[in-house]
Amino acid sequence: MAPGRHTVAVIGAGKIGELMLSGLLRSGWPVERLLATARRPARAEELTARYGVRVVDNLTAVEEAAVLAISVKPQDAATLLDEIGPKVPPDKLVISLCAGLPTTFFARRLPDGTPVVRVMTNTPALVDQAMTAISAGAHATGAHLALAEEMFTPLGATIRVPESQQDAVTALSGSGPAYFYLLVEAMIDAGILLGLPRQVAHELIVQTAIGSAVMLRDSGEHPVKLREAVTSPAGTTISAVRELEKHGVRAALLAALEAARDRARELAAQAE
Ligand SMILES: NC(=O)c1ccc[n+]([C@@H]2O[C@H](COP(=O)([O-])OP(=O)(O)OC[C@H]3O[C@@H](n4cnc5c(N)ncnc54)[C@H](OP(=O)(O)O)[C@@H]3O)[C@@H](O)[C@H]2O)c1
Repeated sequence: MAPGRHTVAVIGAGKIGELMLSGLLRSGWPVERLLATARRPARAEELTARYGVRVVDNLTAVEEAAVLAISVKPQDAATLLDEIGPKVPPDKLVISLCAGLPTTFFARRLPDGTPVVRVMTNTPALVDQAMTAISAGAHATGAHLALAEEMFTPLGATIRVPESQQDAVTALSGSGPAYFYLLVEAMIDAGILLGLPRQVAHELIVQTAIGSAVMLRDSGEHPVKLREAVTSPAGTTISAVRELEKHGVRAALLAALEAARDRARELAAQAE
C-alpha cells in the first residue's frame, strides 16, 4: 500500500499519540491524511498549531479515517470504546497502542469482525529510533500487519510477535528507555561522587551509552563478549562488576521487569 493512502486518526493524542503524528509527518505522510482527537480544547489547539493537523471529535474521526490508532491511557479505553465502539464500521482497522490491553478487550467492544492490531512502541520514536512490536488480533490479516508496519517503520525498528508476548514486550522495550535513563542518571551521580563536573560526567556517560548501543546493534556480538573485552584480569572493570553483582543489579533487573509485566496485566484487568 502506498504511504499515506489511508487516513489515520490518532484517537487520544497525548504523548505517544503525538509522537506517532510527528513521526508519520516526518516520514512524508500527508497532513490531510491525518486526524487527531483530544479531550481538552487547549490540547486540540496545541496539536493543530504544532503540526497543522485537523483535530476533530472522536465520532468524526471514526467516520472519516480508515485507521483508528487508539492512544488513550488503558484506564480511559473502556469509556472511549463505549462512545465509539458501536459506531466503528468493521472495515476500519483499529490499532491499539495501549499498554496491557489485549485485542479481545477491543473486539468485545467493536462490531464483530473488526480487525485489531496491538502495537507497543517506545519514546525513542521521537528520534526515529523506536522499537515497535506488532501483533495481530483475531481478525487482523497480513495486510493489516503490513499497514501497521508501514506506519511504524519510519519511526525505528519493528518486529512481529505473538500477542501472548506483548506484556513482556511492554516490560522490556515499552518501559525500557526509563531503565536506561535511570542507569545513566546514576552513573552521572557516580561521576560527581568521583569529583567530575556534572557536565563532563554527563558527556562521558551519554557518549559511552551511545557507543555501547551502536556496538551492541552493529557488532552482532553477545553482550557478554563485549563486556569481557573491557574486563581485563585484576583490572578496574572487574572491581566494578563485583560490586554490581554484590548489590544484586542483575536480580534487581529480573525482578523489575517482572513487576512491569505484572503491572501491564493489572492495568488490563482494571480497564475491564
Ligand atoms: N508513554 C510511554 O512511554 C508509552 C510507551 C508505550 C505505550 N504507551 C501507551 O500509550 C498510551 C498513551 O500513553 P501516553 O503516555 O501518551 O498518555 P497521555 O499523554 O495521557 O495521552 C493520552 C491522551 O488521551 C486523551 N484522552 C483520554 N480519553 C480520551 C477520549 N475519550 N477522547 C479523546 N482523547 C482522550 C487524554 O486527554 P487529557 O490530556 O485530557 O488527559 C490524553 O491527551 C497508553 O495506553 C500507554 O500505555 C505509552
